[in-house]
Amino acid sequence: MRDLAGKTAFITGGASGIGLGIAKACGKAGMKVVIADVRRSAIDEALPYFEENSLPAIGIELDVTDREAYKKAADEAEAKFEKIHVLINNAGVEVPFGPIWKSSFKDCDYIIGVNIYGVMNGILTIVPRILAHGEPGHIVSTASMAGLSVVPGAGLYSATKHAVIGIMETLASDLSGTNIGASAFCPGPVTTNITPSSLEVRPEQLRDETPSQEPRTRREPPKDVDLSPLEGFVKTPEEIGERVVRGILRGDLYILTHLEFREGVRARSDALMRAFPDEPYNEKRYELMRMMNSPVYNKIFETQTKPEALDWN
Ligand code: NAI
Repeated sequence: MRDLAGKTAFITGGASGIGLGIAKACGKAGMKVVIADVRRSAIDEALPYFEENSLPAIGIELDVTDREAYKKAADEAEAKFEKIHVLINNAGVEVPFGPIWKSSFKDCDYIIGVNIYGVMNGILTIVPRILAHGEPGHIVSTASMAGLSVVPGAGLYSATKHAVIGIMETLASDLSGTNIGASAFCPGPVTTNITPSSLEVRPEQLRDETPSQEPRTRREPPKDVDLSPLEGFVKTPEEIGERVVRGILRGDLYILTHLEFREGVRARSDALMRAFPDEPYNEKRYELMRMMNSPVYNKIFETQTKPEALDWN
């Protein structure tokens, strides 16, 4: 999208943390903002910023796993702002940290429900509306660097974020040739409320009577490490939000924030390259598989260009 002024952004999980940072950056870019979040109290805390800065914004209480409610929320957003142009699938949760085989089925249902179905519910509800009005649009889904590598002990979380990246790469392919873009947004660590909010919003029926694992999360810093030298180096949700707006304007397939993860991502790609057996390449088989629509080559990856460095270290 080239011009965001006057357009509407629908941001799930927009009342806190990264979603709120994105909402503020969208407001700064002249957009109308819909903050869709399951926590009414967080919406009420978030909205005064927009009022104080005379930025058009509304809050809608929405659980992204509730498909009927999602449709009503989209109707409400359109009733207020006429059209939705940008969808930010950002609502996400984590589950307790530990080896993946110690996850409970309720952990699986909870995290897959919000982190994957929530994203799909957004796409199925809102993309057809953007296509129908015909104006330029963009979809961003918040994945994570955990979707481009893996965090030992956070297997379910990583798995959901890998899925989000796959969904967005496919969405970008399916939308190519339209005036709607799609980005997988993969931030590194940002200080937010994700640990307490994931516990707070977990539905009663998906809570374990006896938690399957230690109720510890990967976000707790080690007790004996002095983190004060890192102060000022941690990215804020507002800085992260600016990256997302830039990614929408640039039409990035991937919106990345933390260069420190580059070697880890490279190591994974290198491992995949090494895993291909050194056997003769068969042109005919390639052609056949290409004609059968196998994923032998997807031009969508060629669309990603290098963004300018931003001065934020
Ligand atoms: P946060 O907890 O501050 O914000 C998440 C918001 O989503 C909360 O306001 C919460 O109420 C809302 N939410 C949770 N479940 C919901 C549901 N079912 N329906 C609607 N809203 C719901 O956490 P944070 O960190 O800002 O998380 C935002 C996204 O960023 C998540 O997808 C998370 O996985 C991702 N992320 C976070 C990183 C971090 O270091 N904080 C790093 C990489 C990705």
